[in-house]
Amino acid sequence: MIKSIKLNNFKSHPSLGVDFDNITAIVGKNATGKTNILEAIYYSLITKPFKSNRASLINYDSDFTKINLIYESEKENDIESRLKSNGRSLSSTITINGVKKRASEVIGLQPIVVFVPDDSRLITDGPQFRRNLINSIIIQTSKDYLNALNKFQKILNQRNRLLYSLRNNLTSSKDQLFVYNLQLAEPISTIYKYRDEFISFLNNNLSEKYSSISGSKDKVHVDYLNTLAKDKDDILKMLESNTVDDIRLGYTSKGPHKDEILISLNDFPSRDNLSRGENRSLSLAIKLAEIEYLKIKTSTPPLLLLDDVLSELDSDRQKHLIEQAEKQQTIITSTEIDKSISGYKLINL
Ligand SMILES: Nc1ncnc2c1ncn2[C@@H]1O[C@H](COP(=O)(O)OP(=O)(O)OP(=O)(O)O)[C@@H](O)[C@H]1O
Ligand SMILES: [Mg+2]
Repeated sequence: MIKSIKLNNFKSHPSLGVDFDNITAIVGKNATGKTNILEAIYYSLITKPFKSNRASLINYDSDFTKINLIYESEKENDIESRLKSNGRSLSSTITINGVKKRASEVIGLQPIVVFVPDDSRLITDGPQFRRNLINSIIIQTSKDYLNALNKFQKILNQRNRLLYSLRNNLTSSKDQLFVYNLQLAEPISTIYKYRDEFISFLNNNLSEKYSSISGSKDKVHVDYLNTLAKDKDDILKMLESNTVDDIRLGYTSKGPHKDEILISLNDFPSRDNLSRGENRSLSLAIKLAEIEYLKIKTSTPPLLLLDDVLSELDSDRQKHLIEQAEKQQTIITSTEIDKSISGYKLINL
């Protein structure tokens, strides 16, 4: 449970303290900094912004920002995140109760689920959105996945730099490519293992969640479309056989950073075919499945951040979301006091 947050030079807030209850509603006119508070909570717990890039978290008039999130598990903990701009580069530090921590030691302490008005882009937009979503969920449940993802990203960047050089004849030595392929096979197979498990979870749970929101008997199915094989040895073989294509393109054309996650409703791909209402029900169902997955995997109810989403939903869908909100700590932002919920702490900005 998070108790309070103190912001210093964080986005539009030069200095602000907020205390939280089980359900907290942050109410204020447009551009009063409601979403910025959620961004600060998310950044403290996930160490990445959910909306913008890191540099934009620092108030325009300053070169540093500091956030203190007081979070209680067995005891009270003070997670302090600092960002400092040094001209073109940015340095970040995190401490818990004054002791320096790595990002990987903070992620997952308190799982978190964010609802934003454009969640339906999960369905309508490109595969990047769906990959980012599943990454942001699984990293909160498994250090193994987080480490594999970081390692994959690091070696992928190195491999891509070499491919770019080879393509543009800046170098002719291909030997290092094999080393990168070898180093990539292990983290890729780990990434696939966890993604597979999460997709199975969705397939076991989504239809029911969708039906309870939409009142229909529609069937939701999720397919993970691998661009590489799943087995470690086969991954290496495929990376090797892609080498010629990759040199021609100047980047790594296949892998977990390129895979598609296909969501179908009654066996039809959902991306281009759903009505707006179906789209909203489906994206809400995915979010509710996300809550359940985090709860099961971490044994901790996730913190819900609802950024101005209730007014977007019809009364049935609102009811579903509020039922969920009441089961765990929730922070809601809106421009008007919401009549659909009661018993919350109100913060007027
Ligand atoms: N780095 C920054 N420094 C100062 N102000 C910033 C910074 N980044 C964003 N802002 C400003 O913060 C203000 C509040 O943004 P925020 O998105 O939190 O508002 P909001 O209350 O959620 O509004 P809405 O109801 O429209 O969603 C905006 O006017 C934006 O320009
Ligand atoms: Mg907002």
